[in-house]
Amino acid sequence: SALCMAIFYKGMTDRETADLTMSMARSGDTVDLSEFGDLSADKHSTGGVGDKTTLIVAPIVAALGAKVAKMSGRGLGHTGGTVDKLEAIPGYRTSLSPEEFMEQSRTVGACVISQTGNLTPADKKLYALRDVTATVDSIPLITSSVMSKKLAAGAKNIVLDVKCGSGAFMKTPDDAKKLAKNMVDIGKSCGRNVVALITDMDAPLGKAIGNSLEVAEAARLLKTGEDCDLMRVSMALASNMIALVKKISVGEALALVKECVRSGAAFEKMKQWISSQGGDSACLDDPSLLPQARLSVPVTSPSDGYIGSMDAQAIGSAAMILGAGRASKNDVIDPAAGIVLEKKTGDRVKKGETLCTLYTNRENSVEEAKNVFLAALSFTAEKPEIRPLVLGRVE
Ligand code: URA
Repeated sequence: SALCMAIFYKGMTDRETADLTMSMARSGDTVDLSEFGDLSADKHSTGGVGDKTTLIVAPIVAALGAKVAKMSGRGLGHTGGTVDKLEAIPGYRTSLSPEEFMEQSRTVGACVISQTGNLTPADKKLYALRDVTATVDSIPLITSSVMSKKLAAGAKNIVLDVKCGSGAFMKTPDDAKKLAKNMVDIGKSCGRNVVALITDMDAPLGKAIGNSLEVAEAARLLKTGEDCDLMRVSMALASNMIALVKKISVGEALALVKECVRSGAAFEKMKQWISSQGGDSACLDDPSLLPQARLSVPVTSPSDGYIGSMDAQAIGSAAMILGAGRASKNDVIDPAAGIVLEKKTGDRVKKGETLCTLYTNRENSVEEAKNVFLAALSFTAEKPEIRPLVLGRVE
């Protein structure tokens, strides 16, 4: 704890950050993906609200020939985790033997499991300490936490999604750039191809927040190819991964990615991936097969105007109150709970119009979640300016 606090207040030099990262990466098991040569590709998000990009990106990239042999984490606090989302799918196995993990990566090209017990144990211990000593929010500590896991997980090509805004650890583009540059430099010095995108997290990504709601949204977008913020960020991440794997420009890669979605190949790959891991892929066509909440409660607008801003962190907290997240590590989450947004920043609203629907099995959480949600919004008379989704790229 004293070390974390010293680093939090004093920062670290590049050399110190790199040394800490390497020590953490070597603190436990490492994954050997060398049999996939230059085809292995991984992504990592620094954590956001409604961020289900892995569910969309992994099948696209796998359908284009890359190997996404990936370990993901669980959510804590207002942020969600990919493993919790996948566990909302009946039957999906997040824990496979090393042999099963490699075999599925070989044959299907996409395999996502929960981080095995002994991958970067130093990060697990440090993260738990950071959580209770309020030292999570430190660039050198985030750098070493993320990059130790990425280096130990073995992929040759890595795309980092550094979130920036009200729902992210990095609140300003300058801090996000600094974090991105630190992580990219360390990855490259270890012989990996690394690119970071800085992406907006001033509002939740997409419309769904909560585990089965997010699976349904990801499946629907891959099936329909609908153009929206979530799809654009997912395509930006996927095309940067494909650009690294195939050694082509990001523009060329984006054309491949778009065609892969349009043709239905990406959605087919998603079904193949989910069913290979024991999940019921019928859920992807029919979301009513996913866990459903008993209560659905609309929240209506208290005024006329435009939605001027949304505090993504507060909206993540509202979803957590409904049961979608964990306040502490051992809390049990409800896969059916969450929020579906009807309106987002920049949308015009009329008094009494539905802003979102709350889904929960906990009757007594509704009032609090509704108040937290409404307090997270600001309303303006004029249409607000919307900043770009991808705020920068560091290579
Ligand atoms: N994500 C991580 O994996 N570690 C951090 O420290 C912050 C976000």
